[in-house]
Amino acid sequence: MIGHRLSADQACTPFVLLLSLSGLFFSQPPSCVAIMGQRHQVFIVARVVARNETVPRYRCVGAYHHQWCYGRLPLMATKRFFTLIKQKDNAEIIKEEIRAIQGKYDSGEKLPKAPCPYSLFLLASAWCVDLENRYASGGSFENGMLDAWMGSTEGDNNDGITVIDITEPTDPSYCFVSTFGLEAAVNVEGRVPLSAEQYARAYYPVPKGTKKEESGVKETEEDVQKKIDSLRHERMMTLDVLVEAWPREYRPSVQTLVEDPAPASTNSIPSLADLTLKPAVEHGIQTGETDELEALVWMPGKAGLIKSVLRTQNPFPDSGLPLLAKVVEHESGSDKTVLDLSGLPLSDSQIVSLLTGTLSETKDSIELLKFSYNHNITVDVLPQVLSATPMLRRLVLLDTSISDEQIRELLAKDAKLFHTLGELVHPALLSWPALYPPAFQYVTHNGQSTSSAALAVFTPATLIQSLTDYLSPIADLAQFEMFSFLGSSLVHSLSFRLRPLSECGHYFRQPRHSIKHPSDPFKASAAANALIFKLRKQLSTFLNVLALESCERGGSGSDVIGSNHKVSNVKDSQEARRCKGDGHAKATAVNHHAG
Ligand SMILES: *[C@@H]1O[C@H](CO)[C@@H](O)[C@H](O)[C@H]1NC(C)=O
Ligand SMILES: *[C@@H]1O[C@H](CO)[C@@H](O)[C@H](O)[C@H]1NC(C)=O
Repeated sequence: MIGHRLSADQACTPFVLLLSLSGLFFSQPPSCVAIMGQRHQVFIVARVVARNETVPRYRCVGAYHHQWCYGRLPLMATKRFFTLIKQKDNAEIIKEEIRAIQGKYDSGEKLPKAPCPYSLFLLASAWCVDLENRYASGGSFENGMLDAWMGSTEGDNNDGITVIDITEPTDPSYCFVSTFGLEAAVNVEGRVPLSAEQYARAYYPVPKGTKKEESGVKETEEDVQKKIDSLRHERMMTLDVLVEAWPREYRPSVQTLVEDPAPASTNSIPSLADLTLKPAVEHGIQTGETDELEALVWMPGKAGLIKSVLRTQNPFPDSGLPLLAKVVEHESGSDKTVLDLSGLPLSDSQIVSLLTGTLSETKDSIELLKFSYNHNITVDVLPQVLSATPMLRRLVLLDTSISDEQIRELLAKDAKLFHTLGELVHPALLSWPALYPPAFQYVTHNGQSTSSAALAVFTPATLIQSLTDYLSPIADLAQFEMFSFLGSSLVHSLSFRLRPLSECGHYFRQPRHSIKHPSDPFKASAAANALIFKLRKQLSTFLNVLALESCERGGSGSDVIGSNHKVSNVKDSQEARRCKGDGHAKATAVNHHAG
């Protein structure tokens, strides 16, 4: 997903898109590029238990450099990042990344450079790409990455830092800090948490008197206020978090001006009826008489309680399967698109028996399937699971007994299995550096350096949408502000949207595409339009081939990959969004459109 490795000797030839766009996309005057900067770093912290300790303490789990970020920009980036990490699918991965490093490193030991690579990748995406305001900035992901173990004041800095607590991704906190002063209009206190308002007002003090009504001033003021308001309801980080994460850099004696609204405790005392449920469930399973319990599932709150008891049964008894089926059926509600079997120690045969037996009527509509935290599952069950669930879009395998190596082998050996799956969530595809066989590879060269992103898997519908989104700025230069080479930061948005799955493509063994050093932007724009058109035409051929294959496989071709998709110019990206089978479009829309 976030790979940057080019490898010529992979099992299959990936589709490679090569763009060569020299020096065209700097909106800043070139003289600014080499010497100037509004340098800003951003850090993510989380509560982590060290291997030789028992109490969790804040540690930095990711650091990123941005060359041009000050004033309102860090506020907007923070808001975008919050939108991304609060998204359920992302939050689940972030939590797992933090869980995976618990108890793993001594307190004095350096963490790896990027101990939570997916979280850092989301951070980079949020910092560099603003699809809503059509603004791209920053360098490549790898280029912006800093060491998680560095000090918060050790970056090359003009405009302070942002620190974000991702321990609970759905309830994050933030602060801005002036480390060596800000290149701003007003001085602020150093090395203490600053709110969105304190930080932004350093650059944009409230205009005084009649100045407020001057044109230009008025609009800016309204916008500054809007950006401040967008973070008004977010939690602010307190100084003690900074002190804990970087004890050498922050002093607890300095009073912070901001009060942390302590989150209310949600611990509730279980009722007597709930307390008796556990022995009842266990007795029912032992005797094989679960009918009465199955009837209970429909009562408010009971399904969740029964499921938590079932999760403690290891090995999981076959006699518990009918009850489990009732619970998950209840949970998935009327649309039956979600099947969450995470945390249940089901064996392969129990999984198959659920899908082909008790749940056989609903399995055709399952789009999201989770087996996370199952340490009894093997890679051998995946082919059966995938063929039993024709509408599956996202398969989540966090912390299972399936190894990275096994996933990579299966992807290389039997890529076709993943044709219709949009997203495969397994640590093997979330690691950095990435080591999987690429199914799609993107390479760009700006005259000085080459960067690339490789994806293990993808679906054609998301591919088309991504390329359209990705290339449309070039076709529409007047509409898009770019503060970096195309192909650096936009790689984020591209690979982000493409996320996982599909075939390594022999269908994609097409000639490389490139726009060769066009001499002026208008020609570049025309060339990009032509390229988009060409790509879409080729992709539509690919879609048709897939549709046929998918029918042979027993799925419904048009449903799966959207053969109703129209090939036309870049303007019809809305059309592509409607393309059926692009179940991911919804999620990415939420992802990118920050408040
Ligand atoms: C854990 O190890 C670090 C050195 O790696 C040390 O500074 C710290 O005191 C140790 N903690 C405990 C509880 O022993
Ligand atoms: C499942 O794995 C656990 C170890 O995590 C083991 O104790 C248990 O026996 C396994 N169950 C089965 C049915 O293999």
